[in-house]
Amino acid sequence: MKVSVKVPATTANLGPGFDCAGMALPLYNIVTIEETVLPGTGVEINVIQGNDSIEELSLDHIPVDENSIVYKAVELLYNMIGQSPSELKITIQSNIPVARGLGSSSSVIVGALIAANELLGRPADEVALLSIACEIEGHPDNITPAIVGGLVISSQEDDGSVIYRKLEWPQEWAITVCIPDFELSTDIARSVLPSEVPIHDAIFNAKHLAMFVEAINSKDVELMKWSLQDKLHQPYRTKLIPGLEEIQSKLRHFENVLGCVISGAGSSILIISQKNNLDNLKDIVREIWANQNIKCEIKTLSVENNGAQIVTNED
Ligand code: HSE
Repeated sequence: MKVSVKVPATTANLGPGFDCAGMALPLYNIVTIEETVLPGTGVEINVIQGNDSIEELSLDHIPVDENSIVYKAVELLYNMIGQSPSELKITIQSNIPVARGLGSSSSVIVGALIAANELLGRPADEVALLSIACEIEGHPDNITPAIVGGLVISSQEDDGSVIYRKLEWPQEWAITVCIPDFELSTDIARSVLPSEVPIHDAIFNAKHLAMFVEAINSKDVELMKWSLQDKLHQPYRTKLIPGLEEIQSKLRHFENVLGCVISGAGSSILIISQKNNLDNLKDIVREIWANQNIKCEIKTLSVENNGAQIVTNED
């Protein structure tokens, strides 16, 4: 049996929604799991560069041994039904840039889990898949939209369960993802965060996230401009992304820009704007990064409203 699952990229945090807001984007990894016929062959994991890949470096960065997150995802699911994985060939067709804040690790966790679940006759429902995937990833903001699609606010509870609600992204707002040629590991980006924050910073984010939800629901441009601020992670991470402060300060002068935030833990940057004047915005990012010898790929994308999908299921 062979199952392939196509999983979207995701952008997390979206300004004030640190570790709880995330959105699926139309870039995809495809994870295929095949049962192999030779007994005792164990689990083989391969990574191949997908046709739509925008970088050449990603292959080295998805660990392929049995400790990898992919193996862990499959193992947890097999263990759930009292089995251990063996005689499996897992292939990751990688199109989502790695360590750029676009949810590449969530996508392979989700793809491996859903493919293994299909091979095993679907022992896990959506609730269980969300909970296992978040346990591996550590937070739900990339995992949840990778599974359910769209723009999602989610929370993993103490018992491991995940609650989430989808919001409808206003069609008239553009999402421009600026992907630099340098990586930033989530571990490094989390290591610069404090373990505690001042109460006024916590209140700052609570009110901005509440208004963010209202701005999206009411498509309120001015409220969205105000909402896309954050004091929980970006002030600490800005130094890890050369040129970010300058990009943000230049973009502030554009009437059509609603905000410019770090995508997930970085290194990519997300510009949220109205749909006019996009080329000028892109030129600003390109120019500032070029001055720092940073090459980049810039894409204006729509929201992917579908989460992970099974694209092949062969006996
Ligand atoms: N919310 C996470 C972070 C996303 O910003 O660290 C990266 O996994």
